[in-house]
Amino acid sequence: MCGIVGIIGSEFKVGDLIDGLKKLEYRGYDSAGVATVDGNGLYVSKSVGRIDALRGVVETEKAVHNGIAHTRWATHGVPSDRNAHPHTDCSGKIAVVHNGIIENYQELKKGLLERGHKFHSETDTEVISHLIEENFKGNLYQAVLETLKELRGAFAIVVIHSDIPDVMIGARKGSPLVFGCNEEKCMLASDVTPIIKYTRDVIFLEDGDVVYIQGNKARITDFSGNIVIRNRMHISWDENAAEKGGFKHFMLKEINEVPEAIESALVGRYDEKGFPVLHELDEFNLERVKRILLVACGTSYHAGLVFKYFAEKYLDIDVLIDVASEFRYRPIRITDDTLTVAISQSGETADTLESIRAIKKAGGKVIAITNVVGSTITRESDVTLFMNAGPEIGVAASKTYINQLIVLYTLALYMIKKLGKWNNIHDEISRQILNSSKIIKQIIQDPKIEQMADLYKNYNHFMYVGRGINTATAMEGALKLKEISYINAVAYAAGELKHGPIALLDPTFPVFAVVPKDSLYEKMRSNIEESKARNAKIITIATEGDKEIERISNNVIYIPQVSEDLYPLVIAPVIQLFAYYIANKRGYDPDKPRNLAKSVTVE
Ligand code: F6R
Repeated sequence: MCGIVGIIGSEFKVGDLIDGLKKLEYRGYDSAGVATVDGNGLYVSKSVGRIDALRGVVETEKAVHNGIAHTRWATHGVPSDRNAHPHTDCSGKIAVVHNGIIENYQELKKGLLERGHKFHSETDTEVISHLIEENFKGNLYQAVLETLKELRGAFAIVVIHSDIPDVMIGARKGSPLVFGCNEEKCMLASDVTPIIKYTRDVIFLEDGDVVYIQGNKARITDFSGNIVIRNRMHISWDENAAEKGGFKHFMLKEINEVPEAIESALVGRYDEKGFPVLHELDEFNLERVKRILLVACGTSYHAGLVFKYFAEKYLDIDVLIDVASEFRYRPIRITDDTLTVAISQSGETADTLESIRAIKKAGGKVIAITNVVGSTITRESDVTLFMNAGPEIGVAASKTYINQLIVLYTLALYMIKKLGKWNNIHDEISRQILNSSKIIKQIIQDPKIEQMADLYKNYNHFMYVGRGINTATAMEGALKLKEISYINAVAYAAGELKHGPIALLDPTFPVFAVVPKDSLYEKMRSNIEESKARNAKIITIATEGDKEIERISNNVIYIPQVSEDLYPLVIAPVIQLFAYYIANKRGYDPDKPRNLAKSVTVE
């Protein structure tokens, strides 16, 4: 996730581009840059760090007619001046900003290098400017169309060329790009926020759209050059709401970004047959792994628990997991056949970092799973699998949890393949993972989740239960509820209820049961019956078509049927939204829960 702004038409100031970027700071803030063109050439300035640092390296008052700008959330290459966008070609005439991931950039780069191109960054983006250079025969639009045919992955790009200073071209496939024009100027941006200062009538470009802008005139075509018609939308949000995409809070917006985040996590990670591809792990001898050790905290720990259940089921090896704050103080045994994995969305959590140091001291090699390129954990681990969820502003993890699950399922599937244990069950799981963004898009629109939050918002205690892999789902549901709504929510593997916690249940203590149709369904039903017999209200999350569950539930939220291993993935947004709506209805700000921080850098 990165932020793109482009302005073209009547005179404006370079500072206006930076003002536009500031509105997109939530999309990335590790480095930023601008490029402008006029009849004399292309001018590019970049700066590592927050967007305001860019003001120090550009002439903000300079008057221009055509410019693009970018704020970055690194995916390929650490945050640095060199890796900041815009990226240029060898001639220094073409500048490109890009949001997304170019899946086949390595093979494209290899070809470009062989043909004599010189690269200045480690990014995937730079291949685009060089390809446009190769394809440019005097017509920038045609050169962009030719280039688009060569790109695989998810992207939104905006391109300018100093020989044609009155033209700007944008294209999208999988990453957002919004377009708007007033009488004097046209704008392109990753969302509406930088545009509404100029116009409130915008077009949300669709996948496969290219917009060609000359001065303040524009046309939209498909990637083959055929004209397409797109409807304008009038934006009535105020600026504050617009920053949150019209949502009341970042947390809600970020849950709604899950489909896009999943697509980013998947780019380049499965081949055309649906087999997982993790080139990052080429140097690991996974065939000889006999034991996997996971460390993480909080929500990341719950993602690790899902991995444990999934990987143990199919890999036939032990998966041990511990919270990092405990792990680091226990004796650590690393053998040659141990694979260690540290999970942390921020990449800065002190306990996880210290655990990594302890593992390395004991001779282990660490695979990190994080969302932040350049974070301390990525620097101290041997290899990192990035989650590519884009920045998450809400303190409670939402889309990052879901992307952790995507990466962890992929890691497990990759090992299943490597260890020769792949069968048609895994074909189906892989197919469903690749389709999961669509399933989740549908789930997050279910109005029932908010209705249920309304019914239950005044309870002060909740008991979350699940079994098997969904024990982790129950734990994550309870954590989410307690941390943003300050309700006492406890979680148990449902079979444990009878060993003590059931004593708590009465009509004031609802049970939130995760009970999809899986191999433990009957057992779960018995546990729910036990709870019902104590007069507890029962909320269930169940699989569509399970009418039987209604008999023992006060309220049911249905989710589509998926492979039983994937229920934690599709139920995650439901538990997040339930917690979100309850916190909101109780009058709390879910984005900034009391006593909590986004990166926990203290031990
Ligand atoms: C809960 C939450 C925390 C974090 C935990 C670890 O919503 O966000 O429990 O999961 O502090 O943080 P990371 O993943 O950054 O190591």
